[in-house]
Amino acid sequence: MPSDLVIVANRLPVDRVTLPDGTPGWRRSPGGLVTAIEPVMRASNGSWIGWPGGSDAELEPFEDDGMHLVPVGLAACEIEEFYEGFSNATLWPLYHDLVAKPEFHREWWDSYVTVNRRFAERAAAESAEGATVWVHDYQLQLVPQMLRELRPDLRIGFYLHIPFPPPELFQQLPWRRQILEGLLGADLVGFQLPGAAANFVRLVRQRVGHKTHRDLVYLPDGRTVRAEAFPISIDAAGFQELAQTEAVTQRASAIREALGNPRRIFLGIDRLDYTKGIYARLRAFGELIRDGHFDVEDAVFVQVAVPSREQVEQYRILRDDIDRLVGRINGDFGRIGRPAISYLHSSYPREEMAALYRAADIMVVTPYRDGMNLVAKEYVACRYDDGGALVLSEFAGAAEELRQAWLVNPYDINGMKAALLEAHQADEKELTRRMKAMRRTISQHDVQAWADSFMSVLSETRGATHDKAVRPARRA
Ligand code: F6P
Repeated sequence: MPSDLVIVANRLPVDRVTLPDGTPGWRRSPGGLVTAIEPVMRASNGSWIGWPGGSDAELEPFEDDGMHLVPVGLAACEIEEFYEGFSNATLWPLYHDLVAKPEFHREWWDSYVTVNRRFAERAAAESAEGATVWVHDYQLQLVPQMLRELRPDLRIGFYLHIPFPPPELFQQLPWRRQILEGLLGADLVGFQLPGAAANFVRLVRQRVGHKTHRDLVYLPDGRTVRAEAFPISIDAAGFQELAQTEAVTQRASAIREALGNPRRIFLGIDRLDYTKGIYARLRAFGELIRDGHFDVEDAVFVQVAVPSREQVEQYRILRDDIDRLVGRINGDFGRIGRPAISYLHSSYPREEMAALYRAADIMVVTPYRDGMNLVAKEYVACRYDDGGALVLSEFAGAAEELRQAWLVNPYDINGMKAALLEAHQADEKELTRRMKAMRRTISQHDVQAWADSFMSVLSETRGATHDKAVRPARRA
């Protein structure tokens, strides 16, 4: 049955996997997008269109835990060209400050267009008359325009979960104009930070030639598109509740025990991605041991690296680099039963993450560039005891809100070492002061508030028109 609210995202909240006994099963999908959208969807009764992972034969729509899920299949060559290629080897590095070099291939672009059209057609078929469709993230930037052509009756919102780059970088993209026009099919284009919205509006003015004013774009057909920042968040109350359960409390003590009850546990939890700054933070920690500031008898670093995009070359290189670094640090400084770094290349359920957050004294989040970083917010939400310290990169979107963290520049290893030491030495009063302030921020701006504010601006924006006589700006 057609829905009044349709979410369109590259991934469904569950991923098709082969279970150890060889039968197919489902596992929660990785990443911040699913963490944020899932609680909103549960409260709304809509449909979620997305790729179920893998290149299985087309699956039928199904219900999962109260959500109506509509799978869109990808062929093996589309996984290579659309997902691993254009999405994650072109757009991902380009939108993250060129932390890696983006590759530009025309066949990848063709596949991106084909797959975006498939998602748009599916969204058109699933939407009731006048429905609201909310399209998510960089994999689907052409969907708003394609969908508008198919279904002009719909209210269309788009939200970008990752950074949107400044014009100097974005204009390297051979298909820059098509991407901007694709996004302009939406009534509202949402970003994590105001700077990203400003980058988009400036590019639209320079590259497409539309007239703009502040956060508004005036299209020649009389339609108005709004571009605005909506910093994303988490289900803060849900995480706190989980952290307070007896099972998580016991598991947190068991983790500390298994690590030898060290005085300080440092923790990193990330998808294994080169934007996350995992290598630099582990190096900083290793040097602090080498310099005699920490001893493996009383400090350990737990690094969880969730497997991600393993067929993309840059990710394979990163994995090898980190394997080698962890091996070297543990070989040089570890003792029997006391590794300096406890490294886990795996994904874990929410309960285990909550237990790790509770067990950790110092959470270390050091991306070179990150749209938001929800792990930092999850850590704060789980520290209902007002304890623990957060060391956070100034280049994560979360740094705009979590000002009381120890903010670091991940390119500055000495600066990072100094922040880790300071957080390690901070007294309880200082830790509590900082954590209390961050917890206040997170509880006021949770994921429901984020979704509500996006939806309310979308409903005001929809149908907004302007005088067509507005003269187009000069084309760059
Ligand atoms: O939040 C950014 C994001 O790229 C999402 O769009 C994505 O679903 C998630 O990270 C995980 O990445 P992937 O879907 O490539 O495993």
